[in-house]
Amino acid sequence: MNAGSEHPFRTRSLGPIGVEIEGLDLRQAISDSAFAALRATVVEEGLVLFRDQSLEPETQIALGKRFGPIEQLVVGDEDAEPSMVKISNVDAEGRVRQDEDHFMKLIAINEGWHTDSSFREIPSSFSVFTCVVAPEEGGDTMWAHLQRAFDRLDDGTRSRLVGRAGVHDYAAAYRARGNERGGIVGFDSDPLSHPLLREHPESGRPGLYVSEHMPEIEGLSAEEGEAVRSKLLDLVTADDNTYRHHWAEGDVAIWDNRMMLHRAQGFDQRYARVMHHVRVAGSEAPISWTPN
Ligand SMILES: [Fe+2]
Repeated sequence: MNAGSEHPFRTRSLGPIGVEIEGLDLRQAISDSAFAALRATVVEEGLVLFRDQSLEPETQIALGKRFGPIEQLVVGDEDAEPSMVKISNVDAEGRVRQDEDHFMKLIAINEGWHTDSSFREIPSSFSVFTCVVAPEEGGDTMWAHLQRAFDRLDDGTRSRLVGRAGVHDYAAAYRARGNERGGIVGFDSDPLSHPLLREHPESGRPGLYVSEHMPEIEGLSAEEGEAVRSKLLDLVTADDNTYRHHWAEGDVAIWDNRMMLHRAQGFDQRYARVMHHVRVAGSEAPISWTPN
């Protein structure tokens, strides 16, 4: 598939969702017009992937800044560069961390379907993610398309969701995985609500906004809320609405959190896995979608 002659690169479908981009080198200076085409492709497709482009951390952060201000976030290590989270199962001495390691507990909730920084009033817009060390097995990342799922809602379900909000609660997400939240610097993670139906601020397309970090739905009992949540998550994460990526060193993924869920597959502790993650701050709180 080719996105058209207006793009200074080629795109190839990854499957049900997402595209791979060829012919654009992220290590070189990117013109404003090429960047605009890249950004438009991310907003159109939700997920773009590049291969064989190992980026220096400063290059990755600079690329993120083209999309918007970078979220400052320190996970676990207070001395870390706050513009980039190093998601690694290798400690400072080069040892592979085990499940009981504090940092591994901190990042374990990434194995639930989520969008980045939904604990914020204004969650992340884009994520720029690079693979530095790929495990031989395991450690895949999956994405799921929230707008295509919205398009599949039946009319009755859609109208019941209008005006409703989900409660995003990271402390509850940690508890659900057997951990008490702690040691995450810079998180203000009191539970907060986001609309279940959202309008994309750039494309205007409607989408669902659900997550495994969302244990409740406002106005519903715990049982009703869980039933709705799991029904919606099943719809979003259906096989024909997801893409699963097995990482190779030098892969770069850029996705739009305003229209995509993602999750990490579990770490296989036999292998090192090192990923660098830059989050772009959103510019507005999620916009509630209502029918005209
Ligand atoms: Fe994430």
